[in-house]
Amino acid sequence: MDGAGLLHEAREALRNAHAPYSRFRVGAAALASSGTVYRGCNIENVSFGLGLCAERVAVFSALAAGATEIVAVAITTERDELVTPCGACREVLATFAPRARIFLADRGGMIREVGTADLLPGREGTL
Ligand code: THU
Repeated sequence: MDGAGLLHEAREALRNAHAPYSRFRVGAAALASSGTVYRGCNIENVSFGLGLCAERVAVFSALAAGATEIVAVAITTERDELVTPCGACREVLATFAPRARIFLADRGGMIREVGTADLLPGREGTL
C-alpha cells in the first residue's frame, strides 16, 4: 500500500474521532510489515489528560494485534492545517515505528513525509 492508500485509511478512521473538547478531529493509520492496516482516531475525555491521540491509538492497536514492525503511518485532519504529532506521540513513534515513513496531511491531501528522526532528533542512539 502506498502513502495515498494509507492516507485514505486515516481519513476513514477520522470519521470515528471523538473530540468534543478541542474540536480538532484526527485520523491515523499504521501499516504493518504484514500488509495489515490498523486505524486510530483521537478519543478525548471529560478528564482532559485521559484523551489519546489518533496515531497512538493506531500504533498501539497494531502492537496489541501482534504487529512486529510498522512500516508507515499516516495522520490527517479535516482542517486546512497540517497536523503534527505531539511530543508524546513522537516518542511512541520513535520507539515502536523507528523506521516508518510518516505521512502528515491536511484535509486537502498529503503534505509532508517525515521520518522519526525528523520528529524527534537525537533519539536514534537510544533505540
Ligand atoms: N491530536 C492527535 O490526535 N494527533 C496529533 O498528531 C495532534 C493532536 C489530537 C489530540 C487532541 O484530541 C486534539 O488533537 C487536539 O490537540
